[in-house]
Amino acid sequence: MTTTSPLTPLCAVADVPAGGCRRIALPGRPPLAVFRIDSGIHVTDDTCTHGDASLCDGEIEDGLVECPYHQGAFDIATGKPAGAPCTIALRVYPAQVQDGQVLAALPVQEPA
Ligand code: FES
Repeated sequence: MTTTSPLTPLCAVADVPAGGCRRIALPGRPPLAVFRIDSGIHVTDDTCTHGDASLCDGEIEDGLVECPYHQGAFDIATGKPAGAPCTIALRVYPAQVQDGQVLAALPVQEPA
């Protein structure tokens, strides 16, 4: 069973370019991507589910992020694959903004 931690602060909204993405590296976790698009702030895994690419290096358009490696795509809000060769959904994390800070509910890390 996966439990969820209290909200984790990731960055300031102002640190995420409008229409863009900021990569967040937290200790002991895969990198996260904070997207700031028309539909709001979204937090997902940064690494493509098809390979070892940073989605923050990809193109963002119409609510989709296109992977820089093989041009697969994901719906940023839902994480659903939206273009071949991506078939595995991207993990998305509940996010909110408080006092100009992006917070996300991340799964609790199990001790190694
Ligand atoms: S690594 Fe992202 S589409 Fe292949």
